[in-house]
Amino acid sequence: MKVVAFNGSPRPKGNTSILLNHVLDELKNEGIATELVQVGGRPIQGCLACYKCFEKKNKKCAYDKDVLNECLDKMWEADGIILGSPTYFSDVSAWMKALIERAGLVNRANNDLLKRRIGAGVVAVRRAGGIHAFNSLNHFFLIAQMIVVGSSYWNIGIGRNEGEVNNDEEGLQTMRTLGQNMAWLLKKIQV
Ligand SMILES: Cc1cc2nc3c(=O)[nH]c(=O)nc-3n(C[C@H](O)[C@H](O)[C@H](O)COP(=O)(O)O)c2cc1C
Repeated sequence: MKVVAFNGSPRPKGNTSILLNHVLDELKNEGIATELVQVGGRPIQGCLACYKCFEKKNKKCAYDKDVLNECLDKMWEADGIILGSPTYFSDVSAWMKALIERAGLVNRANNDLLKRRIGAGVVAVRRAGGIHAFNSLNHFFLIAQMIVVGSSYWNIGIGRNEGEVNNDEEGLQTMRTLGQNMAWLLKKIQV
């Protein structure tokens, strides 16, 4: 079993990364393999609407000049996917939005490969707009027929500067609980 987390923040060691690692640590404790993939700050563009993925149906995006197809390969092999994003103007970062658009369309073009896999969104926020970003992440999972895991609160941690989220103990506990819930569900649905 493997869970792959995607960090949509351009700060590889920022608050989103800290939150994601709290979830992944719990999964590791339960013997589940994990990987954290850095997307923010790397080249990734939005969907060009060429619809070649629907013609080719080869599990890839026709635009092969950025990190997207590398991300897709990791998604297809994962039992669980976590999308993590900072809140930017009350929504996900541009990197995360590009990942959602293109992974979402290639998934649909290939008969919902991610169907019934486990998903969860994780958001870092300074003050407001985190729920809207969280909703944007969940829209990806729900249209892909994935099973969204919850926690003791919505999966949001509060902080502005890098590392500040470490002061949000309730946010960190929400991430630990999320990791435990994901591990529990992954083991239940394992055939
Ligand atoms: C371009 C930009 C837009 C932002 N928009 C918001 C916002 O709408 N609401 C908010 O509370 N914080 C906002 N922030 C603050 C970040 O969400 C916050 O610093 C977060 O912890 C960053 O996570 P990171 O360290 O993983 O990058 C914004 C930051 C940037 C750089």
